[in-house]
Amino acid sequence: MLNVKDVTKKFGEKVAVDSTSFSIDGPAFVGIIGRSGAGKSTLLRMMNRLTDATSGEILVDGQNVLALKGAEARAWQSQCAMIFQQFNLVPRMDVASNVLHGILNRRSTIQTMFNLWPRADILRALDILDRLGIAEQAPKRAEALSGGQQQRVAIARALMQDPKIILADEPIASLDPMNAQIVMDTLKRINVEDKRMVIANLHTLDTARKYCDRVIGMRDGRIVFDGTPDQLSTGVAREIYGADASFDEAATSTAIPTDTTADARFASAMLA
Ligand SMILES: Nc1ncnc2c1ncn2[C@@H]1O[C@H](COP(=O)(O)OP(=O)(O)OP(=O)(O)O)[C@@H](O)[C@H]1O
Ligand SMILES: [Mg+2]
Repeated sequence: MLNVKDVTKKFGEKVAVDSTSFSIDGPAFVGIIGRSGAGKSTLLRMMNRLTDATSGEILVDGQNVLALKGAEARAWQSQCAMIFQQFNLVPRMDVASNVLHGILNRRSTIQTMFNLWPRADILRALDILDRLGIAEQAPKRAEALSGGQQQRVAIARALMQDPKIILADEPIASLDPMNAQIVMDTLKRINVEDKRMVIANLHTLDTARKYCDRVIGMRDGRIVFDGTPDQLSTGVAREIYGADASFDEAATSTAIPTDTTADARFASAMLA
């Protein structure tokens, strides 16, 4: 169903994603792991067309989504919803409206100006919130919710699009362990119950082991592992995270905006 063929992304001289190829059949839950800067976010962003690839193809049911333009590209984006580490909600807007924003591109300018939504859409948004256990939060401002609740609102917004694929970029990196579990359980439910493909960039191997059917390990823009969670041995972890990974090295890296220490901590633990 999803066939990534020789996809490369260069930023100037920097090769962020280097001739990456893999395919995913059916509604799998796939985790992408790797050190900071490995190219995980860039890969997801190319799939969703937030970033243009330098070369390569991504075929979905035979169609190269990297070649789509304008309205067709936007239609593809609604088929492949994205969830971010920082939730990307509109903080001062109520939760229900944030969820309805998942289908903003289907609304006319007048409807948007006056924040008018068809009744059926409002009911569907409330149904989705109910399913995710946060229906009572619907009238509150998004900023009033906990991080875990906000991420569930972001998932609800994604579901509003009725996507084939959910791309999640470090969905739990900003959450405490309890909320992280709730959010991952929610993504897993959506994967199993709705049969939607989920591709999630994850920082810790434990999470990948617990939730994923398949794990792709990236290093320096290349795929260095592609297998099942039980194939993730210490040797494989060393291959993905690098034998030289140390807490200090990663902690002093300033190039990467996200948590740069978690993967190195993991690597240190695996290698100890
Ligand atoms: N907009 C950009 N301009 C220039 N270089 C970029 C840009 N985005 C990413 N890069 C570089 O591309 C490489 C891959 O970055 P990417 O964000 O995909 O890594 P990542 O695996 O998601 O890392 P992290 O775990 O920190 O989120 C890094 O070297 C990064 O500095
Ligand atoms: Mg990233």
